Amino acid sequence: MTITLIGKPVTRVDGRAKVTGAARYAADFNQHAQLHAVIVSATAGLGRVTAVGEAPVRAMPGVVEIISHLNAPRLAYGPHKAFIDPEVGERLHVLQDDQVRFYGQPVAVVVADTLDHAERAANALHVSYAAERPVVDPRDPKAQAVEPSGSRGHSHAARGDADQALADAPVKVDVTYDMARENHNPMEPHAVVAAWDGDRLTLWSKSQFVVNEQAEIAAIFGLPVQNVQVNCPFIGGAFGTSLRTWPHVTLVAMAARQVGRPVKLVLNRRQMFFTTGHRPRTLQRIAIGATRDGRLTGIIHEGNGETSRYEEFTEALLSATSYMYSCPNVRTSYRLTPLDIGTPNHMRGPGESSGMFALESALDELSYALDIDPIELRRRNEPTMDEGENKPFSSRSLVQCYERGAERFGWAQRTPAPRSMRDGRLLVGMGVASATYPVWYLPTSARVRLHADGTAAVEVAASDMGPGTYTSMTQVAAETLGIPVEQVRVSIGRSDFPPAPPHGGSMTMASVGSAVRAACLAARDEVARRAIADQRSPVFGAALESVEWVGGNVRRLGDASAGQPYRDILAGSGQPIEAHAANHRDPEAARRYSMHSFGAVFAEVAIDPDVGTIRVRRALGAYGAGRIVNPLLASSQCTGGMIGGIGMALMEQTALDARDGRPVNAHMADYLMPVNLDIGQLEALFVDEDDPHVNTLGVKGLGEIALVGMAPAIANAIHHATGKRVCHLPIRIEDVLTA
Ligand code: MOS
Repeated sequence: MTITLIGKPVTRVDGRAKVTGAARYAADFNQHAQLHAVIVSATAGLGRVTAVGEAPVRAMPGVVEIISHLNAPRLAYGPHKAFIDPEVGERLHVLQDDQVRFYGQPVAVVVADTLDHAERAANALHVSYAAERPVVDPRDPKAQAVEPSGSRGHSHAARGDADQALADAPVKVDVTYDMARENHNPMEPHAVVAAWDGDRLTLWSKSQFVVNEQAEIAAIFGLPVQNVQVNCPFIGGAFGTSLRTWPHVTLVAMAARQVGRPVKLVLNRRQMFFTTGHRPRTLQRIAIGATRDGRLTGIIHEGNGETSRYEEFTEALLSATSYMYSCPNVRTSYRLTPLDIGTPNHMRGPGESSGMFALESALDELSYALDIDPIELRRRNEPTMDEGENKPFSSRSLVQCYERGAERFGWAQRTPAPRSMRDGRLLVGMGVASATYPVWYLPTSARVRLHADGTAAVEVAASDMGPGTYTSMTQVAAETLGIPVEQVRVSIGRSDFPPAPPHGGSMTMASVGSAVRAACLAARDEVARRAIADQRSPVFGAALESVEWVGGNVRRLGDASAGQPYRDILAGSGQPIEAHAANHRDPEAARRYSMHSFGAVFAEVAIDPDVGTIRVRRALGAYGAGRIVNPLLASSQCTGGMIGGIGMALMEQTALDARDGRPVNAHMADYLMPVNLDIGQLEALFVDEDDPHVNTLGVKGLGEIALVGMAPAIANAIHHATGKRVCHLPIRIEDVLTA
């Protein structure tokens, strides 16, 4: 394709709407005669509800309804045909029994005429419990790790004999890692407005996956799928928390049906720590054996992730270990520890970011045991193929990422010995780590309508949580149609648009972008057909293959004239042209090639040796992620992910009270996240990659990999600065102050 717009730093087409407030988020929608719902969250961590003190609350001002397990309708909770995974589906059957499975589980919902009345009533509702002590810590002696059931994936891989290789290795490290539970904490809270019209339900809901929410809510209420409409034009950050349909969506739909009026519900910040998923706490062990010249001979990677009692949540904790480096003997094993907690969920760079923290920290440790530069150690173990899958990489630029990154970052200035670099009284350290994430790609379709005024309207049921989907899809459409971006209007976030996969897993640009391109190509063919049939057209009677499309004009192949503008062709017939197409790639490609993005992340920390404050002064990520559709958006997305990585490394942890499982820091004052003053100089650079196999756009995806290597790069820099190897996250002041 002739590239004119793809790869250009087009500014956000939705920027103006966002800064003027014209962009509407779920809670911005209102319906006539709408009521407000507030959830009452369990204050016991395990047990059952013994009484709900409804009577005095029903008499409070404005209260319309109180729904608890005592009077909630029994819901169908039928199986639903999920778009990607038949296992996806809410297992917490909300208000269907008296059981309390974790702290913060919804035990009632109060509906009132105003938010104020609903909040007061919810606060006044006294719920009694027969409470037991929950098990909420995977290290609790009562916690028991289990094998993930069935084919839950990511569980075990083996090649060679890793245990023997470790026993024989002349140099080895064997380390355990403990990574904290984190909550997504996007700016926008979860919110839903539900309105019933007979047996049809419309939801304005914060969702990264509107077609799944539609199917899931339809199944819960026993409705035909097309009776549910889910709308979500904008998302104020999500990072995975809105991939699933959580119980509050069911509750507000239930409440709206019960009271016969539209109902709005917005979770408060505290409730965002209860039932909307979290990054699971993980425990890992990595053992790596190597020859004295730094060739890896064996890797053992054992991972354990927490999950709830009522559902198995698995993530790709160990996947990268099998393909990152050349090593003949690798064994990975994955276990889950069911606890009395809500089900975890994917959170930015799910699995890979936790697993790679362990692998990349252990490799750094090995580099010191071997006295080899950490970049050189990785170079010596660069594989020529994916040794886990036994197939070539579709493209892999890890070495180039290290080369370009090292040069730009000034790695050569680093002196290898720990505690050898200072800036005045500050200890300075530089660390590196690799990043990787698979290239996900799922079936998507899109629709495009060309109007006689020369504009094009694109529709697809994708969501956008901030990376710039409106803009990048506009670029793809404008590029493919040969028209200016101003003439393209992209609409997303409606379940009645052509279906798209979850806006997650870094797959939107690859999957949805390919579908938008396919739809635009189909529209071009339609225009050509119409012109060919039109006696007044210069291409009248031509064969479709002998007509070409140049800059929005149609002409015969080889014709040097400008051709006929498609608006003229459309104006001639008066009818807009509509085309609908699915993305497509060679089905063999995924079988033949291993497809992943790779990156090299560099961090420099400065640590005050007296008070232990850790500051990431600068960081740089170099990524090989296929074609970059918009360097401005891509760079913003990557530095955003790096900031998430700073949070993971140094700040974020949801702490649970062992007595009742209560998240003790369920608010923004005590759940620490990076703010402007925590951020130094961040830079993302992209290594050119032309990967013809991944999809028609050559795009690999960026959202997750942007976070993946950051925490280990920081931990490795902290070790370089201080000589202290910290194997848990987050790393806090006390970790660098004590022995
Ligand atoms: Mo991302 S964790 O796939 O929303």
